[in-house]
Amino acid sequence: MERLQKILAQAGIASRRKCEDLIVAGKVEVNGEVVTTLGTKADPDQDIITVSGRPIRNEKKVYLVMNKPKGVITSASDPEGRKIVSDYLRDIKERVYPVGRLDYDTEGLLLLTNDGEFANLLTHPKHHVPKTYMATVKGVPHGTELDKLKQGIMLDDGMTAPADVEYKDIDTAKNEATISITIHEGRNRQVRRMFEAISHPVIKLKRISFGELLLQNLKRGLFRHLTKNEVEDLIKLAKSPKLPRK
Ligand code: URA
Repeated sequence: MERLQKILAQAGIASRRKCEDLIVAGKVEVNGEVVTTLGTKADPDQDIITVSGRPIRNEKKVYLVMNKPKGVITSASDPEGRKIVSDYLRDIKERVYPVGRLDYDTEGLLLLTNDGEFANLLTHPKHHVPKTYMATVKGVPHGTELDKLKQGIMLDDGMTAPADVEYKDIDTAKNEATISITIHEGRNRQVRRMFEAISHPVIKLKRISFGELLLQNLKRGLFRHLTKNEVEDLIKLAKSPKLPRK
């Protein structure tokens, strides 16, 4: 038996907090009875649970890590007919969705799940889960320019939190640099916008880690299931108290 709001959140209905609102608002029924008391428990395998009259899905929880190729979108469908991540997940019968986004042009580590609560936990800005990217940028940024990214830089949606930034490679012949950058937020096109803000636009972007999970040698376009330990470590990291970042 689990608390109803937890079952609903895990089924991907909404965050646990929003599911509580749905319960209090009388939208949730268990075996045909409206339940408005928070903390009511139910058994997702036995009870028929509906939200606004629609039964919730009670699928096995699936957690995947994929190496998303460039030129693939993370949405469930694309009106322009471009490739979508589910094209790469034909063997997975559960309906999984990405934990956060990766741009069409960004490659690398993408988590996918049908566990709404897990996805909300890892993407909620207050949990500051670190994500590391390898960014190849135009020109070779000066140390003082990278310091701006380390301290936090003003974007059109506000200051970024401090990032960890390190030179990885400098190609003077091509006039490019590869820089690793770890951010603790997940704003839209954040890394690209941060480098644009110091006038070194990104040429290539690859996510290589999410929390402590590394992409390692997972081949482009392939995926694997996370181990139970990997799932638990990600949850633990998201829930762990962190120093406040601004
Ligand atoms: N930052 C970006 O600019 N793009 C991504 O896909 C992820 C982070």
